Amino acid sequence: MTQDELKQKVAQAALDYVKGLSIIGIGTGSTVYHFINGLADFKADIEGAVSSSEASSAQLKKVGIPVLDLNAVGTLDVYVDGADEINPNKQLIKGGGGALTREKIIAGASKKFVCIADGSKRVDILGAFPLPVEVIPMARSYVARELVKLGGQPVWRENCVTDNGCHILDVHNLSIMEPLTLEKTINNIAGVVTVGIFAMRPADVVLVSQGEEVITF
Ligand code: 5RP
Repeated sequence: MTQDELKQKVAQAALDYVKGLSIIGIGTGSTVYHFINGLADFKADIEGAVSSSEASSAQLKKVGIPVLDLNAVGTLDVYVDGADEINPNKQLIKGGGGALTREKIIAGASKKFVCIADGSKRVDILGAFPLPVEVIPMARSYVARELVKLGGQPVWRENCVTDNGCHILDVHNLSIMEPLTLEKTINNIAGVVTVGIFAMRPADVVLVSQGEEVITF
């Protein structure tokens, strides 16, 4: 199976987690893209979705699912999103698609976070994937210097402005032995909007497609 077929397979399996729900949270990325397309098959039951990016909002609208404001709907039962890395504790690196801030907000506002990914995303230790950090534009250089002090090598994701009008630094060469501590430390640097470590609010359920199987943990 190609990587895209694996993404499609796991997205299909995740549909079971939202059956019967009228309002859900939706993440961003190519795996979620397949999930949204799958949702179209039973969109009659869905009142709407809270979306983590303009890209996912556009796709939701395309398949006929209304996009709702998180402020208007309160706590969500389920949030479905992908990840760039997943460790055995269901802690994640996210933000490869640049939507990490809205993703973290919706994950926090949801009772259950269902993470979907192809098997290549499983790791023992987070950090081989460059860690995305969304920053206020004027703070970019300052935050980069602080990240160097933490042992990383930040690279500005040029030509990328997030949906929130901010910039992204991708931090290379971090071996994240203590995800909770590093998440808090980076969050506390002035000018950081969001760090792409999801350890304080990890996934509740992870679905991973490996060959013909979808593994749940
Ligand atoms: C976007 C994300 C995505 O969930 C992550 O990049 C995985 O994407 P894909 O499903 O395309 O592999 O965090 O900000």
